[in-house]
Amino acid sequence: MNKTYKYYQNREWRKSASGETISISSPYLKKEIGKVQAMTRDELDESIAGAKQAQKQWASLTVRERGTYLYKWIDELLDAKESIAKCIMQEVGKGYNDALKEVERTADFIRYTIEEAYHMHGESMMGENFVGGSRSKVAIVHRVPLGVVLAIAPFNYPVNLSASKIAPALISGNTVIFKPATQGAISGVKMIEALHKTGLPKGVLNLVTGRGSVIGDYLVEHKDINMISFTGGSSNGFRIAQKTKMIPIVMELGGKDPAIVRADADLAFAADHIVAGAFSYSGQRCTAIKRVLAHESIADELAMLVQKKIEGLTVGSPEDNCTIVPLIDDSSADFVQGLIDDAVEKGAKLLVGNKRESNLIYPTLFDHVTTEMRIAWEEPFGPVLPIIRVQSDEEAIQLANESEFGLQASIFTKDVTVAFKMANEIETGSVQINGRTERGPDHFPFVGVKSSGTGTQGIRKSIESMTRDKVTVLNLQ
Ligand code: NAP
Ligand code: G3H
Repeated sequence: MNKTYKYYQNREWRKSASGETISISSPYLKKEIGKVQAMTRDELDESIAGAKQAQKQWASLTVRERGTYLYKWIDELLDAKESIAKCIMQEVGKGYNDALKEVERTADFIRYTIEEAYHMHGESMMGENFVGGSRSKVAIVHRVPLGVVLAIAPFNYPVNLSASKIAPALISGNTVIFKPATQGAISGVKMIEALHKTGLPKGVLNLVTGRGSVIGDYLVEHKDINMISFTGGSSNGFRIAQKTKMIPIVMELGGKDPAIVRADADLAFAADHIVAGAFSYSGQRCTAIKRVLAHESIADELAMLVQKKIEGLTVGSPEDNCTIVPLIDDSSADFVQGLIDDAVEKGAKLLVGNKRESNLIYPTLFDHVTTEMRIAWEEPFGPVLPIIRVQSDEEAIQLANESEFGLQASIFTKDVTVAFKMANEIETGSVQINGRTERGPDHFPFVGVKSSGTGTQGIRKSIESMTRDKVTVLNLQ
């Protein structure tokens, strides 16, 4: 029998009084792998109250004392890495090796977060530096926690994108309400089981489960939530932004990252990066390359190189570490198929793919995509890549910027000076020159603009976003 997982509140694992559970089914095993609790509002209130109550005491510990718990968490996660990776694989259909890397990357993330916090300092300011000021006024500025942080995570990195909120929040003295994606909640429970083993004081992290559509609004509007760190789809991001009042929010949302390939690019190199960037984990990454803007003069050759690479991709089970795996659920596959059908109907040239078995979509490449086609603009979160041909850098920049999204962009060229000029004009959080779009290394700032988000993540930036300045002014007699 599959296990029924409990929620975690004030160091206790509890069943919901609702008596209701949510069945979690594996996207490729096509069977239930466990159940999680559907929590009631009273239980959410208790979780938030527990986190609020624990916060002052937690914040009163030194950063090194808090770091001790997080170092122990790293050890516990690494001790359990195979079983956590297996859980990620089964729950969200990620290749086993990638799932294992996700846990190891998380351990590195937490370690760097602790060490970064150890090296962050406040500042002092002398009054004399301002007109009419005086040396007898000194401001001491340091960072203090915001209180209770609500961490809402997506399905596609159920451990890493959760820890990338939890670790910076905890090290800086906040307590956390962690709401994993429902498809990802078992992996979330596993990582919190590891945290529990560190002896973390009660209430410092409480794990809540339930469908976002049922409990999401209640959580984000709760009066005792002091900051929200959200990663997920743009529509949910907009909804949360509308509902919250006067609390800081950091949101990393969807993307439509373009790979711009100039006429002078090393095409084999670009094709390698494009295919790896677009198709790993079946394209279920916010930073996946989701369109290619290729200069007309090299588009034929580039398309041929990309097609060849795609034909070599492995398709099948995450247990065999295939690159192309079944999508998270049938409705996601239906959505991707809808984009493919629209492109076919409107005359895009299909180079490879357009084959489907249930929620497994084979890698699909279109050339001669036009701006009338949905695939030119919409985020598939699946393995389909459009090539749009352009006549100039200016046209590439214009198309890049016409997107509602602004997460990342890649430029492939031998002319770094031109690439820098183009990067300055592209409206995305980051631009990669001669490399695929990606979040890491995790201490780099990670920023989405327009419908791709608000605020900045990346280790130091995440710590800063979860703290505020506290100013104490000393008036010398
Ligand atoms: P999602 O459907 O938006 O879900 C994300 C989280 O929000 C889940 O925990 C979900 O809970 C919760 N949620 C749902 N409705 C909510 C509400 N009304 N209030 C508060 N929370 C709510 O996203 P996803 O399907 O997991 O991930 C795919 C999307 O996320 C893609 O668009 C992708 O580009 C984006 N993404 C962005 C980044 C980035 O860093 N920019 C990273 C990963 C993913 P339930 O699971 O219970 O519904
Ligand atoms: O899905 C969104 C993640 O932030 C992408 O991370 O670029 O390391 O795959 P990644």
